[in-house]
Amino acid sequence: MRSERTARAQLDEILVSRQIVMVTGKGGVGKSIVSAALALRARELGLRPLLFELDAPPRTSLLPDGKPAGDDVEELAPGILGINQRSEDAIRDYAISTLPSRTVAELLFENRVSKLFLRASPSVSEMALVGRVAILAEKHGADGPVIVDLHATGHALSLVQAPAGIMKVLRGGVLHERARRIEEILSDPQRTAFITVALPEELPVTELLELRARLRELRAPLGPVVLNGVIDDPAPLVADEVVAHLETGALKHAAHDLRALRTWARRAARESERLKAALAQEGTELLTLPFIHDELKPGALAGLLAARLGGAS
Ligand SMILES: Nc1ncnc2c1ncn2[C@@H]1O[C@H](COP(=O)(O)OP(=O)(O)O)[C@@H](O)[C@H]1O
Ligand SMILES: [Mg+2]
Repeated sequence: MRSERTARAQLDEILVSRQIVMVTGKGGVGKSIVSAALALRARELGLRPLLFELDAPPRTSLLPDGKPAGDDVEELAPGILGINQRSEDAIRDYAISTLPSRTVAELLFENRVSKLFLRASPSVSEMALVGRVAILAEKHGADGPVIVDLHATGHALSLVQAPAGIMKVLRGGVLHERARRIEEILSDPQRTAFITVALPEELPVTELLELRARLRELRAPLGPVVLNGVIDDPAPLVADEVVAHLETGALKHAAHDLRALRTWARRAARESERLKAALAQEGTELLTLPFIHDELKPGALAGLLAARLGGAS
């Protein structure tokens, strides 16, 4: 399909030219797997990407033949760097880098009350995080994008709003200046792109459309949409009457399952169409990734999806 090709080309262009690629969408839609697939695709394009995970649970690697990301940036698989950023570390680094002396910062951070305060203030913790992404992007930006696997939907919004939140409180000074610079990077379509991911289900699609509307209001540069987990109509050639007939005989249970599966697939198709129609209105491209039936390890799954990003059928 032409539009799929356009979407793939756009995605490639984003990987090649942006410093920061934020991956966002409802929980469970495949953000982590898609982020890993994007990193693999970026490597395929000759880049050296950095996969930025955030407080990820300990797990096996998201990359084929890779190792799980740790607390510091390291090479997870040949040509792909990665980190599992702990937000607490990000907040501490932010404090250290912005306060007059490291000792003061550490004292402050070790103080239980201020620690609670820092945690409780969303702008501070989000700013710390986005600041960390920006620093890594500056360091690695020339070699490839930092691909950020964000938490669920609301997180992207709070990250985008963090710099303004800081600037409202601190009217001047180093922190204000830094927040201003980061806001500039996050809203610069030459440097940043937000890739939104959905599944062909009602809530993820609705949430994605709302999220995109909000991000647009906040002037975040939006990239193409990834519709993950798309399943073709199962057994499209078996007519409804045949299924109905089978349901009366010995194959009753199998026929029942088949009917349920088809109902599910049709509902998914309706949601895909709803998403496509909404995106067509705003001129946004949609890239679909298939539902993979085999139970694969995350790395193998990401590998398959990366091949699709490259145009494999
Ligand atoms: N295209 C796909 N086909 C089959 N399973 C998938 C696909 N994409 C993701 N999954 C599975 O769905 C689950 C959620 O994916 P994950 O990337 O962890 O989502 P998120 O990061 O958005 O919460 C995982 O078990 C993952 O292996
Ligand atoms: Mg995840």
